[in-house]
Amino acid sequence: MRAIGISDYLPVTHPQCLLDVTLPDPTPRSQDLVIEVEAISVNPVDAKIRRSAPGKQEEPPRILGWDVCGIVRATGKEVSGFSPGQRVFYAGDITRPGGNSQLHLVDHRIAAIAPPGLTPAQAAALPLTMLTAWESLYERLRIDRAGADSGSSILIIGGAGGVGSAAIQLAKLAGLKVIATASRPESAAACIRFGADATIDHTSPLLPQLEATGHREIRFIANFASTSQYWDQMATIIAPLGRIVLAVEPERPLDFGGLLKEKSVTIGWEFMFTRARFGTEDIAHQGFILGEVSRLVASGRLQTTLNRTLSPICADTLIRAHQMIESGHTTGKIALSGW
Ligand SMILES: NC(=O)c1ccc[n+]([C@@H]2O[C@H](COP(=O)([O-])OP(=O)(O)OC[C@H]3O[C@@H](n4cnc5c(N)ncnc54)[C@H](OP(=O)(O)O)[C@@H]3O)[C@@H](O)[C@H]2O)c1
Repeated sequence: MRAIGISDYLPVTHPQCLLDVTLPDPTPRSQDLVIEVEAISVNPVDAKIRRSAPGKQEEPPRILGWDVCGIVRATGKEVSGFSPGQRVFYAGDITRPGGNSQLHLVDHRIAAIAPPGLTPAQAAALPLTMLTAWESLYERLRIDRAGADSGSSILIIGGAGGVGSAAIQLAKLAGLKVIATASRPESAAACIRFGADATIDHTSPLLPQLEATGHREIRFIANFASTSQYWDQMATIIAPLGRIVLAVEPERPLDFGGLLKEKSVTIGWEFMFTRARFGTEDIAHQGFILGEVSRLVASGRLQTTLNRTLSPICADTLIRAHQMIESGHTTGKIALSGW
């Protein structure tokens, strides 16, 4: 099969940082689906891994990419609920090869039928970021999907990115008032398009801007950008008994005491790959979440966050997508479609 891989861990400016390669077809495990990949999307984790170990060599080349839409071609012996010919979408497992290949294997318990009516690229834009946003809001922050927290305020830091644009939509579904951060007119407009009630600029102090929008204290904060950069501001902004979810490894040790302790703030980590990586008992819950996302998209209550599609899927287009992601200022998602 054709694939795009890395042999070395190189900066995105290097012309061989991603390579077109040919590899043997993969052999499925008993719980696996064999997928013919139609579209993939790109996430910051791809770029972080691609440059993570300068000097280290990979032979055979390592395949990245954890957002896939494709067609089931075969199923392992213990698979139930899927059959050949179905179009599925999933993020997959960070401990296994990624989906930047014509054929890919995924444990069926973390996949779901793709939203009907979406193109493969529109569907591939969704899994990793929707799972992150869903687990962040409905599991870590324990926001009630049924509406018991309706009217409470949430601050979403990094509102226009892949995760933020999914989180804005999920917060609105639960009836929350959403303040999203964006530093540019284009990203602020994207936040409003996905349903945010207000935007503030993350390059200026947040509190005065929140006060200007009538929000002195915030019950929920979802930080989908630098943890260290916003640590002190989050402690000031969060309401007593409030909850904060974090998704980005901090660059420096953090002080968990002070105001955070005095306010009895609950702080939770989100790592989208936890269930797959540790094979948790509830691993199939990710398949359930994706099924719910598919249903909500089909009923028009969620929209794809796809912003841009590049074709075909090859090293050249993938390098372009990595360059855009590494700029840190894309809105929504970038997908690659067709071989
Ligand atoms: N733990 C997990 O499971 C998990 C899962 C997914 C993602 N992540 C991490 O979460 C982060 C966001 O992921 P993503 O997919 O949403 O990335 P993304 O799509 O690349 O995010 C781009 C957005 O980030 C905003 N941004 C850039 N710098 C910012 C800053 N200093 N403060 C606030 N916002 C900033 C930009 O807004 P402006 O252009 O308006 O500045 C841009 O719209 C990444 O670090 C990613 O690795 C973690």
